[in-house]
Amino acid sequence: MRTTFLEVPSIEDKNWKMEMERDGTENKTLLEMRDVSKTFRKDGSDVLVLQDVNFSICEGEFVCILGPTGCGKSVTLQIVAGLIEQTTGSVILDGKEEHGPGPHKGMVFQEYALLPWRSVVENVEIGLELRGIDKKERRRIALEQLATVGLSGSEEQKVHEISVGMRQRVAIARALANDPKILLMDEPFEALDALTKEEMQIQILKVWERTGTTILFVTHDVDEAIFLSDRICVMDINPGRVKKMLVNQLPRPRHECVSRTDKAFNDMRDEIIKLYSSLKEEELDLII
Ligand SMILES: Nc1ncnc2c1ncn2[C@@H]1O[C@H](COP(=O)(O)OP(=O)(O)OP(=O)(O)O)[C@@H](O)[C@H]1O
Ligand SMILES: [Mg+2]
Repeated sequence: MRTTFLEVPSIEDKNWKMEMERDGTENKTLLEMRDVSKTFRKDGSDVLVLQDVNFSICEGEFVCILGPTGCGKSVTLQIVAGLIEQTTGSVILDGKEEHGPGPHKGMVFQEYALLPWRSVVENVEIGLELRGIDKKERRRIALEQLATVGLSGSEEQKVHEISVGMRQRVAIARALANDPKILLMDEPFEALDALTKEEMQIQILKVWERTGTTILFVTHDVDEAIFLSDRICVMDINPGRVKKMLVNQLPRPRHECVSRTDKAFNDMRDEIIKLYSSLKEEELDLII
């Protein structure tokens, strides 16, 4: 039986990138995680939460990190963002070793962290203001990014006047306004109701298609990962590590060509669930 996913050799096998090249999907490498581990000090002892995480992301790729709660998805993303430092290993972005945060790494969290007393457009301008961009130019960029996320016409509204889905779009526009090399998204649609979540998934795919931005997207929703990604970095738990990197061959644009009831979609879902068959139900905690 033909597998729907092209299985790339596990990350432990450093040759997996060559597989990508053979598949013809290899592009310029943008992000490389090299042997990244993270230990936290907890109750007087060291706890290993990430072990030897290795993966690369190409420019323009949409990669999802999928895994059960507590497997280290957010820690991985925060290390890429430079918000926390890895214990060992390195993060290479665009050929340079990364240390600390910066506007070239746009973050979108589950809590959109907007300033409620400011208008939509003023929220998008925050990062530009911090970078000292003049008023006229930052307004131009903010309006352009609001159009990218489909919010033209809502720029003067206050944050409390708009829906939660719109707030998340403002957060995405704010991250895009800094023209980041990579957009890092940590379960951004988790708090949304099912319909709004689906709308937002389509919206982010449209933004990605329009802008060509590289996206690293954390989720514990299997269908979300399948619907959005070019590849899925499937993580394991205790300690957090990469279990497998899967190439998602579903056609694009997904919102036009793919339905979640398609056989190919179901096959992928089954394949991912099988990867977790060794975990107990209470450890799994994935949305399936
Ligand atoms: N600052 C910290 N200090 C100590 N331990 C931490 C810290 N941040 C995270 N951890 C631990 O690291 C592990 C991984 O956490 P992380 O938040 O990355 O999980 P996750 O995969 O994002 O889970 P979820 O799906 O619930 O968001 C957890 O056991 C967590 O308790
Ligand atoms: Mg998390």
